[in-house]
Amino acid sequence: MNDLKVFKDMTVWRKYRETLGQKIELGLVPTMGALHEGHLSLIRKSISENEKTIVSIYVNPTQFNDKNDFKNYPVDLDQDLDMLKNLGVDYVINPVYEQMYPDNYRFRLTENNFSKLFCGKDRPGHFDGVLTIVMKLFNMVKPTRAYFGEKDFQQLTLIKDMVESFFMDVYIVSLPTLREHDGLAMSSRNVLLNEIDRKLAPWFNKILKMNISADEAKKRLEENGFAVDYVEDYNNRRLAAVRLGKVRLIDNEKI
Ligand code: PAJ
Repeated sequence: MNDLKVFKDMTVWRKYRETLGQKIELGLVPTMGALHEGHLSLIRKSISENEKTIVSIYVNPTQFNDKNDFKNYPVDLDQDLDMLKNLGVDYVINPVYEQMYPDNYRFRLTENNFSKLFCGKDRPGHFDGVLTIVMKLFNMVKPTRAYFGEKDFQQLTLIKDMVESFFMDVYIVSLPTLREHDGLAMSSRNVLLNEIDRKLAPWFNKILKMNISADEAKKRLEENGFAVDYVEDYNNRRLAAVRLGKVRLIDNEKI
């Protein structure tokens, strides 16, 4: 097992990054922690494709439009670091707000079209926060490749578009959604579901995969006890977000 270097101070990380040089093949997996197998699949892929792999663990406040959602977001740094050590990750960055946002979010990256649809409708400003932090991470890490999951399909699409629009020198690798044995998409938020809602949750994906219209799927979800934010078809994909109690779940399926 190699030893995992954890950087909390971004000044120290950036100095260290310089010592690695420009030629190194460096894979970046951005996360908000509370790691699960979905995250680990991205990390394993990065390890297999790059000389070194760095994972960022940062619960990014600017992408939360709901203060309680931010406050309740699960955090388990010790367990995360153990998992990353076992996988053979080389570096972790785990910064604080002041170092990621020295401008206090005076500058931000905005997309004015696709980011306003689907999740953007219910979560104003969410994707500005995502794109801004991902750009900051790219600038700090200078990765060769960065890894993202299809589970967050709208996020993945926007990040690919951002990279193209700003000529960013990074290759975006995307990987399929990992699921629990009952079909529920793995998510850090799943641990927040109570027992009853956890039993109901697999119906989200089951209904999403049914050969019925988006409107019909919305109706079925509501009949089964989900509060539906949206079910919509986009480019041969059905995208959806639902709520069970206070927990918001998203998923998508090819149609
Ligand atoms: P987070 O929700 O921690 O997810 C980190 C990465 O893991 C994302 O690329 C996400 O799509 C991927 N992922 C999550 N669940 C997955 C699953 N079940 N199968 C495969 N991949 C999965 O997404 C974020 O963090 C943040 O928005 C971030 C990009 C880090 C910016 O703050």
